[in-house]
Amino acid sequence: MKIIAPSLLAADFGQLKQEIEMVNQSQADWLHLDIMDGVFVPNISFGMPVLEVVQKHSTKILDVHLMIMQPERYLADFQKLGANIITVHQEACTHLHRTLQQIKDLGCKAGVALNPHTPVSVLSDVLYCTDLVCLMSVNPGFGGQKFIENTYKKTKELKKMIIEANANTLIEIDGGVNADNISLLSEAGADVFVAGNFVFKSKNPLEVIQELKNKIG
Ligand code: DX5
Ligand code: ZN
Repeated sequence: MKIIAPSLLAADFGQLKQEIEMVNQSQADWLHLDIMDGVFVPNISFGMPVLEVVQKHSTKILDVHLMIMQPERYLADFQKLGANIITVHQEACTHLHRTLQQIKDLGCKAGVALNPHTPVSVLSDVLYCTDLVCLMSVNPGFGGQKFIENTYKKTKELKKMIIEANANTLIEIDGGVNADNISLLSEAGADVFVAGNFVFKSKNPLEVIQELKNKIG
């Protein structure tokens, strides 16, 4: 199944409950939550109090993307706040294998995100215990950036690695996803599509989510 995951980062935080309810009513499968620490990435987004509101109102699978250094310090907190999937950055983990095990021990799905400069080959020895790989198609830190075209190549390479390893890992694309690139990304092997600005800054987010979903079949 192909999955649409609207990114709450682009929502109107003055209307947080309504924005979450819009996603609840939509064809989206997951809700993507970007946590930034101002150290790993040059921006600070939102944290625990916002996730409490999300947990209270969302009916979707919560896909938590940690753009923070030493994410192992907070895994249990995010699990308690309702995270179904916890994704850490390969670049932020000294002991990535251990961190993935810790996520799984909490009962969550374990994801690894790769910055645009990080080759997919770094994951060859953890793919078997990775439920999701998030390919960053922009440099992490901000919504609304331009999609990096090299992502198609990385997606194809990663898909090949997953098939060869006989793994069930999902490929998620995060950054600059829109109605023009989503079909090609899907054909390249991607499974999960994060969309922030393209959904929340549109006139009719419900229709846009439906449009994206239709394009991935
Ligand atoms: C970027 C975040 C993305 C972001 C995507 O650092 O990880 O999830 O919200 O937003 P758009 O779709 O606007 O590029
Ligand atoms: Zn993200």
